[in-house]
Amino acid sequence: MGNDQIISRTRVFIENKFSGEGSGHDWWHIYRVWKLSILINETEKSADKFIVELGALLHDIADWKFHKGDLEAGPKAASEWLTSLKVKEEVIKQITDIVGNVNYKGAGVKPSMTSLEGQIVSDADKLDAMGAIGIARAFAYGGSTDQPLYDPNVKPVMHKTFEEYKMNKSHSINHFYEKLLLLQGHLYTNTAKDIALQRHRFMEDYLKEFYKEWEGQA
Ligand code: ADP
Ligand code: NI
Repeated sequence: MGNDQIISRTRVFIENKFSGEGSGHDWWHIYRVWKLSILINETEKSADKFIVELGALLHDIADWKFHKGDLEAGPKAASEWLTSLKVKEEVIKQITDIVGNVNYKGAGVKPSMTSLEGQIVSDADKLDAMGAIGIARAFAYGGSTDQPLYDPNVKPVMHKTFEEYKMNKSHSINHFYEKLLLLQGHLYTNTAKDIALQRHRFMEDYLKEFYKEWEGQA
């Protein structure tokens, strides 16, 4: 099977698997990460476009949050899918590395993506958690887990380990401080850092407006 066919088959597989998901992890998240990865890849030049696209399409195939905290579920599912398409072992290895390392694991946990292809996918994924879309996704996720919008008495926590981050019970505004406003510092490529500037500013402006309205001000 040619690379183009592997991409188009994977696109259809993922689109079917994710359509209608309500927690901010729907097909359109994958679609945006795929498009953004291609955009970042255009300026980063030396990466392998096929790996970037395939990694983007498969990056959330089995997220730990929906698999009882199992970080191996993603790489396993990606590997099974690619094996069914008879994709080369070497490609499967590159993709499972991406899928296994793409998740944000808490404010104090260093990102660990080593390949340039994986860094591009990770950057695109982080950008989609920022800006107008990022805000919408945070409240969608919060709603799906019965988390309140905000509670001024519950302060943000800077999680030092993935275990702490996973157990977090809070409100959606805290998620801005525990993740969204920190994402700028978790980006690898200069292209993504440029795109992030506007998205970061937009979230800061949003929070100012939110607190003003929270206090019942005009
Ligand atoms: P990604 O797909 O970008 O790796 P996650 O899987 O961590 O992101 O989460 C999916 C979306 O839900 C993201 O936009 C993320 O910021 C948001 N999210 C994750 N955890 C929380 C939370 N505790 N409260 C609010 N939003 C959250
Ligand atoms: Ni994602």
